[in-house]
Amino acid sequence: MRLDSDSSTPDDVAKRAAQLRLEINRANRLYYVENAPELDDAEWDARMQELLAIEAAHPELQSPDSPTQRVGSPPAAGFDEVVHPVPMLSLGNVFDEDGFRAWYKRVLDYLELEKAPMVCELKIDGLALAITYRDGVMERAATRGDGERGEDVTANVRTIRSVPLTLDGPAGEIPPVVELRGEVFLPNSRFAALNAEREEAGLPAYVNPRNSASGSLRQLDSSETAKRPLDMFFYALGYVEGGEEPSSHWDTLQSMQRWGCRINDWTRKAETIEGVMAAIANAGEIRDSLDYGIDGVVIKIDSLSLQRRLGFVGRDPRWAIAYKFPAEQAETTLKAIHINVGRTGALTPWAELEPVIVGGVTVGRATLHNKDEIARKDFREGDRVVIQRAGDVIPQVVEVSPKNNRGADSKPYQFPDTCPSCGTETVQSEGEAVTRCVNATCPAQFERLLEHFASRGAMDIEGLGERVAQDLPRLGFVSNIADIYRLHERKAELLELDKMGETRVDNLLSAIEASRFQPLYRLLYALGLPGIGSESAEWLSRRFSSLSRLLEVTEEELLAIDGIGPVVASTLINYFGIEQNRNLIDNLIELGINPIDDTPEPSADHPANGATFVVTGRLESMSRSEAQNRIKTLGGKATGTVTKKTSYLVAGAEAGSKLEKARRLGIPVIDEAEFIAFMDDGVVPEVSAPDDH
Ligand code: IVH
Repeated sequence: MRLDSDSSTPDDVAKRAAQLRLEINRANRLYYVENAPELDDAEWDARMQELLAIEAAHPELQSPDSPTQRVGSPPAAGFDEVVHPVPMLSLGNVFDEDGFRAWYKRVLDYLELEKAPMVCELKIDGLALAITYRDGVMERAATRGDGERGEDVTANVRTIRSVPLTLDGPAGEIPPVVELRGEVFLPNSRFAALNAEREEAGLPAYVNPRNSASGSLRQLDSSETAKRPLDMFFYALGYVEGGEEPSSHWDTLQSMQRWGCRINDWTRKAETIEGVMAAIANAGEIRDSLDYGIDGVVIKIDSLSLQRRLGFVGRDPRWAIAYKFPAEQAETTLKAIHINVGRTGALTPWAELEPVIVGGVTVGRATLHNKDEIARKDFREGDRVVIQRAGDVIPQVVEVSPKNNRGADSKPYQFPDTCPSCGTETVQSEGEAVTRCVNATCPAQFERLLEHFASRGAMDIEGLGERVAQDLPRLGFVSNIADIYRLHERKAELLELDKMGETRVDNLLSAIEASRFQPLYRLLYALGLPGIGSESAEWLSRRFSSLSRLLEVTEEELLAIDGIGPVVASTLINYFGIEQNRNLIDNLIELGINPIDDTPEPSADHPANGATFVVTGRLESMSRSEAQNRIKTLGGKATGTVTKKTSYLVAGAEAGSKLEKARRLGIPVIDEAEFIAFMDDGVVPEVSAPDDH
């Protein structure tokens, strides 16, 4: 049936539209997911044109899940933020067989098992996406962002043909709400062509397929995205509401495939370390024949119940690991050695190189690590050198090429003994590899701090990148961090700078304004407190809730935080003792940059909070490591030795000397059932008066 006469009834039109959608969706699936095309291009086009015509004539028949929607819609004003219902995590890395064996041993020890079957997948070098389907229809697609929050890129994802707009499947199999995750990428074969077009249009070329995928997905105009041949492999369920959950990762992949999602067909099971190593070797062999970049193999424990038991450390799951391929190497000329002064005063030498392609990316600079490394490897300006790059890692200079020929004028490199920024004499402490500028008012250090403060993981101030972070202090606009929140008072002067147009100034000022509302943990990380990374900033934020409370923190309080050791505690105390730093924080508070962390401490009123436990012997329902983890998440301490300070000894079967010692010291001893009631329901065990023998 074809509809071209005006005599057709509305019912016929609706039926025809439905049929066309079915046919196009089926053809897309066969083409993009199953690699077995059924319609040729002309046949496909004819159906698409007909459907477009029907939808244009009958707007009531338009629907967001129609394949016509893949052509994109008009520009969006920006992307809405999406809070991921289940955070999107990263993966720990290993780089060789020993590293992998150590990971697998940790897994088995944790579970107290002899073996745990695994699934191996290619690690696709693209970007992670989470797509939610409600009643089988695509509702929302979000980028990973920082793992907690991403961007709503639904309109763009609709244009990716291997992503189903509706899920197929036997009745009742698809959960009412399901979030599917995977990796979006741009095929290598299309990358070169895309770059050629960009250069012609006067746009900067993308450095690698991964950046081009990210750039394409984040186009504000989805009809632009529609022109890019993006593709996607699915590899996980994010969260599921209702419906039955599969029992293994392997089954999850099979279900997703049945629903119409593209799964990478290299994926394989492995029962043993040898099986995994064979899979990795195979992936290395086929790597160059693939039309997409991979940077390793991801190994996942197959059983989902074991995955749940294993849980997470920080942002990485314990149940999966990425085995990264060895670094790719190339030879080039070391044109010059430069010194960069970092935020904490560290002088880091870097190499300016004759640009060379390594692993698909053009590299023009690489790190030289430190003074001793240059001396040890005798790198000199003008040398031929071997450089390498592994995954995302900054390129490095490995060694002087064996083929290097030095001219008569070649001289060993002289590392500067004064700071290239402020001229202060540098210091290299005994036993430390780093050479430092210890001048607290060194301009280069401040520029780096400003850049770090504004960076994406910190206060996320767009427009305050490397250049602006240099210019603002050099032109006298900013001399400490708090000054950026006074910049709006000097808008007229900023506008006089010929580099900054009105739009850029406005954008910068509004990005600064928006950053006032960043949560406390971001502010703490942004301030560059010594020894404080993004994770420890979260601990400080949770525990102390405000800047003013942090100004009063004591060393004991810091040491009581799991993960903060004596070195970090004392440098932090020093930091808060310095008048300039206290003034800065006071200034920020006065300017209204004073976020309060009111997340309730999860376990504040749990009776295990603050108690010290020792777990010994064999437990029936969980391993010792799991027991220790539960204690820690409730705010308790889990240690290995029984002392007078131990609050409880948890004794499993065949408990030995620790049990004896606890009895001797009169420490309360509880069994597994009491422990579980204590952890789950907060039932404080009744402990009998200690025996006195
Ligand atoms: S699993 C918690 N599987 O690698 C598990 N990730 O380094 C996290 N990636 O953000 C994801 N291929 O973007 C998984 N087969 C694969 C993957 C994969 C690529 C990416 C993903 C993730 C990153 C972590």
